[in-house]
Amino acid sequence: MNKFGDEDTHVYHADISDGGPLDLESCWRVLSGAEKARVERFHFDLHRHRYVRAHGQMRRILAAYLDLPADSIPIKTETRGKPFIDTKELYFNMSHSKDVAVFALSNRGHVGIDVELFDRKVEIDDLSRHYYTSSEQELLANLTGVERSRMFFWLWTAKEARMKVTGEGLALDPRHIDVVVEHGWPAAYRLPLEPWASLVPVVLENLGGACTVASLFKPNLAVKRLDDLNS
Ligand SMILES: CC(C)(COP(=O)(O)OP(=O)(O)OC[C@H]1O[C@@H](n2cnc3c(N)ncnc32)[C@H](O)[C@@H]1OP(=O)(O)O)[C@@H](O)C(=O)NCCC(=O)NCCS
Repeated sequence: MNKFGDEDTHVYHADISDGGPLDLESCWRVLSGAEKARVERFHFDLHRHRYVRAHGQMRRILAAYLDLPADSIPIKTETRGKPFIDTKELYFNMSHSKDVAVFALSNRGHVGIDVELFDRKVEIDDLSRHYYTSSEQELLANLTGVERSRMFFWLWTAKEARMKVTGEGLALDPRHIDVVVEHGWPAAYRLPLEPWASLVPVVLENLGGACTVASLFKPNLAVKRLDDLNS
């Protein structure tokens, strides 16, 4: 089934809170044995429930794209943790922050996605000094208040999406990822040069956070609704 139409990359977001629309039991039922074992290792129900809903929803989305039952999607994991399916036809990645999960899928090539909510309490000065490049630090130094903290998170998601697109994760030092900002938005990666990657800042309705998709190609990206998944 070609769900992409003229596009090649789709982004979804889901409310994974206890008060949200995703039924915990039915999400649990589609998880693999490995995923269920991982759930048992969390100490708090809050974290267990978020994991079950995020991974259950991921499987349901993949099921709709692959025309397979959600509980039989053969998800494997690369050495540094990036999940994948052994097919050249569907690439995906996910991220979660508190009660929100985001998912990126593509039929064109590798994607990485990251989401961070703006209300997350972080030491902006400290973190940017340690993890941001000098041009990113200079950019932040010229901003104040909400504008500055929001840009901090947009840059953060751009960096993490770049770490995730290749699956390198933290093996790729965030100081070696340099994000170019144009007209107030992250627009490109100045570094690393190899492999070349592009980025798209994704504004999600009612999210109150930053979300970036990185890809190893220039995407034709659309934000989709979960309600439309099976239509
Ligand atoms: C993968 C990584 C980059 C992102 O982790 P994170 O921000 O904590 O978590 P996210 O919610 O965005 O993504 C987690 C999901 O990405 C996927 N993932 C895990 N490892 C991955 C990797 N190496 N590459 C791509 N995707 C990966 C999994 O689906 C994972 O879901 P799960 O944990 O429920 O199984 C991780 O290496 C990390 O620890 N990041 C922290 C980075 C940091 O400190 N950055 C400083 C400022 S830039």
